[in-house]
Amino acid sequence: MPPKVVGLLLLGTVLIAQDRNPLANDPNAAKAGEFQFRINCSFCHGLGARGGGRGPDLTLARKRHGASDAEMFQNIKNGIPGTAMPAAIGSIGVGMTDEEVWQVVAYIRSVQVKTPAHPPGNAANGKDAFFGSAKCFACHMVQGKGGRLGPDLTGTGSSRSIESIVESIRDPSRRLAAGLTEATKAFPQEYETVTVVTADGKTITGVTLNEDSFSVQIMDPAEKIYLLEKDKLRSFKKTRTSLMPAYDTSLLSDKDLGDIVAYLLGVEDK
Ligand code: HEC
Ligand code: HEC
Repeated sequence: MPPKVVGLLLLGTVLIAQDRNPLANDPNAAKAGEFQFRINCSFCHGLGARGGGRGPDLTLARKRHGASDAEMFQNIKNGIPGTAMPAAIGSIGVGMTDEEVWQVVAYIRSVQVKTPAHPPGNAANGKDAFFGSAKCFACHMVQGKGGRLGPDLTGTGSSRSIESIVESIRDPSRRLAAGLTEATKAFPQEYETVTVVTADGKTITGVTLNEDSFSVQIMDPAEKIYLLEKDKLRSFKKTRTSLMPAYDTSLLSDKDLGDIVAYLLGVEDK
């Protein structure tokens, strides 16, 4: 029997309940982990773990749910209750073994940036722009202040890559934010824009908060919430065009954009 296989069998007995990744020094583990990641995780966390439409960027050193090997192992193995992060193991998981979970942890370590990114902008100016000239606060809340039409941005800086935040601001319709009901659904809905005409001829445009076969709940830009029965509507149209204006350079200079991103990255999430 080749020595490599013997090594794996021995490891097999001690793979569970470790504080440190038992495969940390195994150069093949990260490679195997990358393969697992592509199949099971990149759908939400993006290729290269740099964040996708649904899951956060995992290349950041800062991790909201714990950055130690043991914490990452738990989060991946059992999922994160109350969030869209599913369990990798067990009946609802994709059937990864403990060893495969450790391989994925080794892979995430291998793509993690060594030092936290230094946002180039000025966070204090960014905060002024966010709550002032750029009017972001009209639709977004940060630490309990601001509007509700768009997602709360308190955790955005700690969970998304700089590139994806910039994309959300310059080109919001390209990839819509995951919706409010995300936590309770395996496949979260997104902040789609919906326009309805009611039986009495009133047109309402807003974001969908909830939807099932019979009804839809909409918030309009004035933050008024409507619960409507679909079969009573004259028309019902959904689009993937964001209600957020696309902030091109005429609306928001590169400098103000950099400052706002620096502000969002500095917001403490807890
Ligand atoms: C259905 C989408 C989805 C899939 C599939 C998914 N994740 Fe996640 N994951 C999430 C979301 C959403 C979060 C953020 C949870 C929160 O904080 O709200 C998350 C969080 C995490 C975290 C914690 C990040 C932190 O900041 O602490 C890790 C680690 C992680 N995922 C790894 C993985 C790995 C590895 C896989 C594949 C085995 C995977 N995820 C599959 C959606 C997903
Ligand atoms: C008219 C309301 C409105 C304004 C003003 C607005 N947004 Fe948005 N924003 C939204 C809506 C609605 C979404 C969700 C749909 C989408 O992803 O585009 C969103 C999404 C986002 C996202 C993605 C969040 C996620 O979780 O993926 C970011 C980041 C963001 N906005 C930042 C900003 C910043 C910064 C400004 C100011 C420069 C701003 N927004 C101004 C309504 C607005």
